[in-house]
Amino acid sequence: MGASSAARGPVAALLCATGAYSAARFQARARKRGGRAGRYGLLSLAAGFIGAIALLAWLAAGRQANGWLGWLGGAVVVSYAAGCLIGAKGRGKGRAFRGEAEAAGRMGPKSKGDVVDAFHRRYYESAVVSDTRWLGVRAVKCPLDLWVYQEIIHEVRPDAIVESGTARGGSALFLATICELVENGRVISIDIEEEPERPEHPRITYVHGSSTDPRIVERVRGQIAQGERVMVLLDSDHNMEHVLRELRIYGELVTRGSYLIVEDTNIGHPVEAEEAGPMEAVEEFLRENEDFAVDESREKFHLTFNPNGYLKKLR
Ligand SMILES: C[S@@+](CC[C@H](N)C(=O)[O-])C[C@H]1O[C@@H](n2cnc3c(N)ncnc32)[C@H](O)[C@@H]1O
Repeated sequence: MGASSAARGPVAALLCATGAYSAARFQARARKRGGRAGRYGLLSLAAGFIGAIALLAWLAAGRQANGWLGWLGGAVVVSYAAGCLIGAKGRGKGRAFRGEAEAAGRMGPKSKGDVVDAFHRRYYESAVVSDTRWLGVRAVKCPLDLWVYQEIIHEVRPDAIVESGTARGGSALFLATICELVENGRVISIDIEEEPERPEHPRITYVHGSSTDPRIVERVRGQIAQGERVMVLLDSDHNMEHVLRELRIYGELVTRGSYLIVEDTNIGHPVEAEEAGPMEAVEEFLRENEDFAVDESREKFHLTFNPNGYLKKLR
């Protein structure tokens, strides 16, 4: 046997090993990235192309047995088969890996909307919603919305801010603090529940009662002078009927160019909800009232608890 014949075996083995090794590398890399089947598809395509050439070469070489072409063709066919076997195994593992990762919530969402919604749900469901404080007082708010309120107050300079739903008073204190900084405005905050620990502030007046009770509405109206700029935030009972009643009542108080902010329109959009809420109330209100329009520019931080809830009074 000549030197060239002795080399045929190792060369064929090397080709087989290279084919198998590259297929295994594809598999490992794809698994690391979540096992995307697309990469294996490409690999199979490339291997198929090489395999087809090898098959033709092998057939051609078959006519002159023991020729170099025959060895080479045979080696590539074997490496193609090995690559396909390993690739197929990887495909299965990759899919399984992706499935597990998705189930565990580790896989990234695909579009910008998905990213925002996924983060929104995660944020909403976390305990942080009830552990957000302004100067030590609990405020049931997303800080990104509070920043928007600050911008609106600075631009609109309302003389009176009516808030429905006080709870601990953190949001009322936040609004009063911004009024203090811009040296204008005061807060009238309504809640059906009494709460002795609410913060005292010279710019806050608390009103005790239901926001839709006509006597409470009159008390609030009585605290606003003719010609004052008024802004309203609705954050009490989130039932659709209640919010719609509030919208009809307090929408009239809001002055042109100012805002009627309907909070927690994210209930059901995208966070889970069992019944219609603030978003559905807004939809109904906008069908019957042309004085307001949704100001989407106030949703610029992407995450807002008030999607479609920043209503600007146009006339
Ligand atoms: C989500 S909390 C308000 C949170 C507060 N604005 C904050 O950001 O810290 C809702 C509040 O609305 C009050 N509430 C419920 N129904 C009401 C109604 N009909 N009129 C006024 N307040 C109501 C509840 O007592 C509760 O304190």
